[in-house]
Amino acid sequence: MKKRFWINFVLVVTAICIPGCKKKTPTPTEPEAKPEAKEARVMSANEEPFGQTADGREVTLYTLTNTNGLRARITNYGAILVSLEVPDRDGNLADITLGFDALDGYLAVHPYFGATVGRYANRIGKARFVLDGVEYELAANDGENHLHGGNKGFDKVVWRPEDLWANDNEALLKMSYISEDGEEGYPGNLACTVTYTLTKDDELKISYEAEADKTTVVNLTNHSYFNLAGQGHGDILGHELTLNADRYTPVDEGLIPTGEIRSVKDSPMDFTSPMSIGSRIKQVIGGYDHNYVLNSGGGTLALAARVYEPTTGRVMEIHTIEPGVQLYTGNFLDGTLTGKGGKVYKKHYAFCLETQHFPDSPNKSNFPSVVLQPGQKYTSVTEHKFSTR
Ligand code: GLA
Repeated sequence: MKKRFWINFVLVVTAICIPGCKKKTPTPTEPEAKPEAKEARVMSANEEPFGQTADGREVTLYTLTNTNGLRARITNYGAILVSLEVPDRDGNLADITLGFDALDGYLAVHPYFGATVGRYANRIGKARFVLDGVEYELAANDGENHLHGGNKGFDKVVWRPEDLWANDNEALLKMSYISEDGEEGYPGNLACTVTYTLTKDDELKISYEAEADKTTVVNLTNHSYFNLAGQGHGDILGHELTLNADRYTPVDEGLIPTGEIRSVKDSPMDFTSPMSIGSRIKQVIGGYDHNYVLNSGGGTLALAARVYEPTTGRVMEIHTIEPGVQLYTGNFLDGTLTGKGGKVYKKHYAFCLETQHFPDSPNKSNFPSVVLQPGQKYTSVTEHKFSTR
């Protein structure tokens, strides 16, 4: 990667030329660190070794930092967002995503912390679908259903780094992966990229592109577990959530949509105006794990969700071009996993807002299509914008 050499060169020169720009790296156990003076910061994109997979493949940890001190760390194992540090209303940084300090945690079984999920995020009923008259059988890894790409989804593969750079406006990491014809049962070779961009305006954008050589289905998302009070700092039931969605897709006991698109009105599913996540969660069997139908209809970048954490003042707004978002309230977290800084992750210690096409779309003709034809380009964009109040 010749380009990367020059980027690193420019970054090093910038670091030498701007006195005092070398950052203090907080240890993972240090919960909150005061941000440094603004003039000392530059946009940066760096890399360091993160360990090896069981089959001996080297994995890297990338760090994107912006001028306000926001810092995203990403590994090319599973294209996972490892941590995301954002300031609270007093300027104190905290890591707001669940995960692990070291690669080992990600190599072991975990519930998709920070992961890039594909080839098909969420569930496909009975792990099968028909495309052009041919039935495809997928890995059944969630009872009889297919979940998050199967036994070895995009969250468990090593992505190839393509680009790593920073300029005055943004810091960017692009990675690619080729999913082979037949992988986890899906038809066609699929060449994908995921790009993480941290902007000077405190946005973390995640965008995806994919092309196939046979007709296939695609639905990519990021599965970050957020706690805006800081990862491991209690449950998220007091977070205030607004969803730009008047409707959702009800599910059966296997969490497969029934096909109905139902109004949220007069139900605990209604987050059309700000509401604490915990206010009605007891009325939802198992907690929230539902796909909301965004009012935008998809296709244009539009507000999907806003989350506000009252004790720290942190706000996260999500804009996406996807037609749906899965609200998942960490219902299966049960205290058996210990994550970053020794924090134990208990039930409802995080929420996920997985922007997506609707679950089981390959089997639901009334849902927006997830079919990708050869010659077409799949694109998906989601932006997470951080602020305080
Ligand atoms: C998604 C699903 C949940 C669960 C988690 C991972 O959010 O909708 O049911 O599978 O992923 O544990």
